[in-house]
Amino acid sequence: MCGIIGVVGSTDTLSTLLEGLQRLEYRGYDSAGIALVRSGETWRARSAAGTESVAALRLECEDAPAGFTSGLGHTRWATHGAPEAVNAHPHLDCSGNIAIIHNGIIENHGELQEQLEERGHVFTSVTDSEVLAHLIEESRSEGLELLEAVRASLLVVRGAFAIAAMDATEPDVIVAARRISPLVVGTAPGVTYLASDVPAILDRASAFYAVNDDEIVRLGPEGFRAIDLEGSPVRLRQLAIDWDLETAQKGGYDDFMTKEINEQPDALRSTLLDRRRHDGTISFDELRMSDDELREVRRVVLVAAGTSHHAALVAKYAIERWARVSVEVDISSEYRYRDPIVEIGTLVIGVSQSGETIDTIQATREAQRRGARVVAISNVVDSSLAREADAVIYTRAGLEVSVASTKAFVAQVAALELFALRLAQLRETLVPRDVEALFLGLNAVGAQVARALERRSDVEAVAKGLLGARDFFFLGRHVGFPTALEGALKLKELTYLHAEGYPAGELKHGPLALIEPGVVVVAVATDPSMHEKILSNLAEVKARGASVVAVATDDDETIGAVADYVLRVPASEPMFTPMVDIVPLQLFAYAMARGLGRNVDRPRNLAKTVTVE
Ligand code: G6P
Repeated sequence: MCGIIGVVGSTDTLSTLLEGLQRLEYRGYDSAGIALVRSGETWRARSAAGTESVAALRLECEDAPAGFTSGLGHTRWATHGAPEAVNAHPHLDCSGNIAIIHNGIIENHGELQEQLEERGHVFTSVTDSEVLAHLIEESRSEGLELLEAVRASLLVVRGAFAIAAMDATEPDVIVAARRISPLVVGTAPGVTYLASDVPAILDRASAFYAVNDDEIVRLGPEGFRAIDLEGSPVRLRQLAIDWDLETAQKGGYDDFMTKEINEQPDALRSTLLDRRRHDGTISFDELRMSDDELREVRRVVLVAAGTSHHAALVAKYAIERWARVSVEVDISSEYRYRDPIVEIGTLVIGVSQSGETIDTIQATREAQRRGARVVAISNVVDSSLAREADAVIYTRAGLEVSVASTKAFVAQVAALELFALRLAQLRETLVPRDVEALFLGLNAVGAQVARALERRSDVEAVAKGLLGARDFFFLGRHVGFPTALEGALKLKELTYLHAEGYPAGELKHGPLALIEPGVVVVAVATDPSMHEKILSNLAEVKARGASVVAVATDDDETIGAVADYVLRVPASEPMFTPMVDIVPLQLFAYAMARGLGRNVDRPRNLAKTVTVE
């Protein structure tokens, strides 16, 4: 989520870093910083000015001393600690010689910080990242060279990271490493670069190399060498990159939507990282609400708009099933005008990718006025919704650029289901063994989503066969219903075709009258307990001439009897299916839109964030 750049051996270090950071703008950021390092001297500048952070940093760097040939730069998308200058990277150790930048989450930062403070280290930020600077400092003081010091530090940290470190007592060296978060090395004669993403160094380096998980690389002006966590040498794979800047910013994909659809496994992993303590308790670092306050919750009201509303609908099933608390879901633009009832023990959850949707903010304000406690589920740290709420849980999907929301949806469902599990723990409505199994199941969803993504060409073939269709009904039962709503919304937004989502059971109460040859019915049929009923609904529409598309699990052998087209997905626990089943529906809407020549990232008439009522 954060952006990283580093350079050694450069004659224009400062502009390399600042331009590189500017080119990472598409990732989104709330603060930025650089450190220039040479023998005995580390010069640092940081700024937190939201989307203006790099511009503000540029101003601060106007009085940077000249002559530095190496340095690090970072744009931050906050996860731990507010987006303020003190929390911006690079972070320094106690001596001020060591500078580090980090993208990712150090899961065991709390215990590490405690141990380091006991040994006399002084922390100056509220971030999980700063522990790295102090860990490296300790290993350096034992005489290890920087490469070995970084390796030693990585042996004790858990989580996801791409890091880079420099030390003014070992100048012209950058040591970098990764686990999960991306990292590339670039080379040019006499200069070596490092970046989280190719665009940052695209026009500077002539060759690019990928750093793999748990590899550590030492960069000098003359080139680089890499080792694994055991210290054995490894070779980095060279990347064939012939992208222009725009393609590079889209990660090599044709558009942001494809990039974001493909980022869903990562969005899930980030959202779920660092959410369980050693004793099995599910915890949200950023949720400023005590266990007692959560125990007092008697009723949950979820308010949201668009895709976020569909994620909220999934949460209703999970919270009611697992935590046995009654849940209402409201479209946020309706909530404030219906004279809502807020009783003691009502918890209102505002769900929003941007945290800036005016209807959702107005709804949570209304709820607060009436005495409700408000939790925000926001993808943007310190968004208006997050600031105004009493408590917050962040989905960590990273910046979403495409107007049609994709990765934010799966991250919202994951965060809300995790919250449902926390409520269940506190209310003791699930036994610990079941919470554990569900938590592990939730963590396995990312891999199932990745497998669903591999079926892209199958989905494209289905879309090709249906390009002439103009009317679509999406049906589902249980959590398949919100999935159907979201599938219909994606198709509508992207193709401008008529698409409606319905609970399959409502079919006979109206929509069946519209079914005739040429109409397409898309059914979510992955839940075994709902399977028979869905099958008979599909038989009804087929008998009236509709074309039937079914989202079905790999092992479903009966679906072929009623479906003309089958979109296969790996099977998952029913409550988790929306995160997996939505993937072929996103890909279907996308393929239809491309087939019809639509602009997938910017559909007509729509805005990414709606800030007017
Ligand atoms: C707009 C966007 C949708 C989004 C909705 C809610 O309509 O186009 O993609 O789902 O707003 O946005 P939020 O940021 O509150 O989740």
